[in-house]
Amino acid sequence: MNTNREFLMRRLHSLLGIIPIGLFLTQHLIVNHFATQGVEEFNRAADFMANLPFVIFLEIFVIYLPILYHALYGLYIAFTAKNNPGHYSYLRNILFVLQRYTGVFLVVFIAWHVFETRFQVAIGADEADFNMMAEILSNPFMLVFYIVGVLTATFHLANGLWSFLVTWGITQSAKSQRYTTYFTLLVFIVLSVIGIRALLAFV
Ligand code: HEM
Repeated sequence: MNTNREFLMRRLHSLLGIIPIGLFLTQHLIVNHFATQGVEEFNRAADFMANLPFVIFLEIFVIYLPILYHALYGLYIAFTAKNNPGHYSYLRNILFVLQRYTGVFLVVFIAWHVFETRFQVAIGADEADFNMMAEILSNPFMLVFYIVGVLTATFHLANGLWSFLVTWGITQSAKSQRYTTYFTLLVFIVLSVIGIRALLAFV
């Protein structure tokens, strides 16, 4: 592929991982966390999101198209990837490989999750409310699948934030990259706690 075009496509892939996909994931987990406060609170928060003005356009342009591009180009990268340059540490090389594995798993998880929630509503099910999630998560296999899915997504976002900062030249020195390792570890822990607490609230 033309290297200039490949450069731009990579940059777009990287940017979309944070804006809007990473921001969307964060707000999605926070809205889900209302489940810890009770059925009414969760339904009110979910209802608010579902009834935003122009919600279908928001969904298409802020969620579906960016994820579709990031996922398709991500699969292309994951399966054609060259190994990481040798100047990174052993830990960084492991995290680099995990970024690709978690991306591939997320394709399956996100497709399934959208199919059994949003798609069901589109073909006539009632709202994607507390009861719908409680029913899904009453199956222990599904609960484990969702816990793994949430941890995969929070890891992929937090670790992706680290490489995003390198990709865009924001963290160039070894020191700043070490600090952002701690920071992104914190992001991973905080988002994971929010996401897992929300899931357990439906059980
Ligand atoms: C929850 C949804 C997702 C979020 C929040 C997300 C976020 C991110 C972020 C922030 C990056 C770092 C970009 C950079 O290094 O500059 C990234 C990288 C990556 N993502 Fe995702 N992503 C998601 C889903 C996916 C999916 C479904 C795939 C499909 C395979 C995928 C594949 C990849 C790959 C391969 C990379 C590494 C790119 C590279 O090494 O240059 N991601 N992602």
